Order: sequence, then structure tokens, then C-alpha cells
Amino acid sequence: MLPALASSLTLLTVCASVHSQEVSHSPHRVQLTARKASHDSPLRRRALSAANIPLNDFYKGTDLQWYGNISVGTPGQTISVVFDTGSSTLEFPSTACGDSCRNQHKFDTAKSSTFVDTGYTTTLTFATGVGVDPVQGDNYQLQLRSGHDTVTVGGLVAKKTDLYVITDQTETFAIDPFDGIQGMSATAQGFFAGLINQGLPSVFGLYLTPNAIGNAELTIGGIDTTKFTGSVSYASLPSDSGDTWQLSSPQISVNGKTTSTLKRTRTIIFDSGTSNVLFPTSTAEAIYALISPDIQPFDDEPGTYGIACSKIQSLPAVIDLTFTSSSGKVFNLTIPSSELSVGPFASDSSTCQTLINAYDGYDLVGGSVLKHYYSIWDIGNQRMGFASNRH
Ligand SMILES: *[C@@H]1O[C@H](CO)[C@@H](O)[C@H](O)[C@H]1NC(C)=O
Ligand SMILES: *[C@@H]1O[C@H](CO)[C@@H](O)[C@H](O)[C@H]1NC(C)=O
Repeated sequence: MLPALASSLTLLTVCASVHSQEVSHSPHRVQLTARKASHDSPLRRRALSAANIPLNDFYKGTDLQWYGNISVGTPGQTISVVFDTGSSTLEFPSTACGDSCRNQHKFDTAKSSTFVDTGYTTTLTFATGVGVDPVQGDNYQLQLRSGHDTVTVGGLVAKKTDLYVITDQTETFAIDPFDGIQGMSATAQGFFAGLINQGLPSVFGLYLTPNAIGNAELTIGGIDTTKFTGSVSYASLPSDSGDTWQLSSPQISVNGKTTSTLKRTRTIIFDSGTSNVLFPTSTAEAIYALISPDIQPFDDEPGTYGIACSKIQSLPAVIDLTFTSSSGKVFNLTIPSSELSVGPFASDSSTCQTLINAYDGYDLVGGSVLKHYYSIWDIGNQRMGFASNRH
């Protein structure tokens, strides 16, 4: 999920107290052994090693939203979160949130001996939401209050992690099968910055399998080599990327064909918290024109497109997104034809929604691309890697 710009700038200011630049990679191990530190001396502490966190897939007609558990507070309270590469901060409902959080687990700040309320209140508005519907106006909005507490992810403990409790939220969040959002942006913040400060490598891997296959997983502090086959294609983030996971792409092709609109350099954002693909209207329509003239804007839901469900199954719709690896080789991330339909519209069950929503702001891909690759998010080296999933 991508925060709307104004809010994300506000939040960045708030999070400036996390100094991810001061990261040290604890290379002291050899010296410490020589000093024969006593067994329980903190000097003997080794760098943390990678941990795997199992993920569930949000399967509500679509198969494009993954979430897993973290633990917050002392004693720990279990909170399920989307590990969201499109945002930076951690937020989840607290007991201060009323009816709008009725379906979610609410964190009880009074029951955590380590919770500290830091009293800053803000509003976080998202420009991309959960599921396949476009965001309209302020329909994805959270009211937040800042604090810090101990956060444990995959057994790794980060104390005094900056976070927000949700005190109110729009209805669109009430149907979510998860409680909150854990930002995993391209600059480490919150718990991840805390773990990196303790020596955890600044990289994570995502294995976002379809629900039918299962075993989806986040690995923090490393990658899980049992989850992919073959070599990894790495590509560097553009130097001005900041928090954003994005890569430059020279070309999009559909069923092996391209057009002048599609053969143009663009920067594509990778957002594990967004289900559908978002492209500017001209790009979306150029892609659809190569698939079928019958794919048309669906007026009930501005930004979406659809086609008669009876026609969609047989349509070839292989979309190749082309990138250039760090070693100069061209590679594609391919969205197979099976992703074209994201299911019937609620207001017209004979029309099926197609996977690209028009959004005149940026180019962004999410679950429908990421579920076909093992993806590596390397903060330290400011690069992303992709390999074939091992199923
Ligand atoms: C998260 O925790 C809940 C409650 O402890 C458990 O039922 C669920 O299976 C866990 N989910 C995952 C993906 O581990
Ligand atoms: C990438 O996709 C394009 C369009 O389908 C194709 O022409 C090209 O051969 C592909 N490149 C690689 C390296 O697979």
C-alpha cells in the first residue's frame, strides 16, 4: 500500500529519530573471542541470523494479499500485519479504536509494561489500498497515535520500536483479515532498523505463493535458498529512490508485441501490499488494446476495466515487464494470462475485472507480479533480486 504523498512526508519527519545510517555490521567477532569475554558478556553477542515468518494469503476471490504475525509489547500480544514494501511505518488497532476496528485484534496498551505513549497524532491516507478496488478520495485512511514498544518478528526482538496505534479507520479497513501494516520500505525503519543495529543483515526475501500452493514466507535478515531455483537477476534501485522500492524499465510487451507507448522508459514501483497493477491511463489502455478491444472502462468503478466473464478465460494476456540487471543483461518479469481476471464486479457479476487499474500518478506492480518470483529486497546494496519460485 502506498501512502498518499502528503502523509508520507509527515510520517518521515516523525520517524527521523530512527538513524538507519548509524548501522554497524558487528564485525567484532574475532577480536572478542581473543579477549575471552565471559559467557554472558554482551561483548560476545553475535550478529543476529535470519528468521522465517510464515504468511497467509488473503483469498477473497483474489489471491493477492499476504500477511503474517508479529508480537508487540511485554508480555507479547500477537498482531497480524501485511509486510508492506510500499510504506515505512508500523500501525495496528488499539483498544482506543471503536466499532470501525470491530473485526480486528486490538492491542491493549495498558497490558504492556514496555509501551510508551509519545502522544503525536496524525492521519495516514493511502493512495493504494487492499484488494483490487481503486482508492477513491480518502476511503483508505487511518487515525494514528505514536508510541514505542518492544516488537518481535520471527523471534527477533527490537526494543523501543517506533509505532502507531490506530485509533480510528475508514470502513474499507474493517473487512481486512489482518490487523495492521508493517512498512518494509527501501530505507530501514522501525523494527528492521532496530534489528540491523543489532547486526542483522539489511536484506529480506519474499516467497508470495498462490493460496493453492501455500507455504508463503518472509525471511528477514537473509534469503531462503530453499524457496527458489536457478540464478538471481539483480537490478539496482535508481539513486534517488529514497524509501521507494523501484526499478527502471525500458519496455512493456503483451503477447510478445510492443508499441511506441509501451516502449518507453518508466520507473516501476514494487509494492507487496497492493494487489492490482496500477499504470497511467495511456499505458493501461495500450496494454489492453493488445489483449482485446472488448476490455473497456467499467463506469461504476472509475479506474477499473472489465470484459464479459464468458470471454476472459480464453484470452492470451502474457505481460512482459523488461528490466536490465546490474551486469547489463536484460530480464523480464512475466505476468501470465491467468492473472488477467481478478473476478466479477460486485455490481455486475457477468463482467469480470481485469488486473490493471488506471492511475495517473505512477507505475506500480504488486501481488500479481510478485507471486510468480522469489523476490529479494536488499537495502544494504540498494538493489532488488528475482529468481524462479521453487514449488
Ligand atoms: C497467527 O497467529 C494466530 C493466533 O496465534 C494463528 O492462529 C495463525 O495461524 C498465525 N498465522 C500465521 C500465518 O502464522
Ligand atoms: C522479454 O520479453 C520480450 C517480449 O516478450 C521478448 O522479446 C524477449 O525475448 C524477452 N527477453 C528475455 C531475456 O527473456
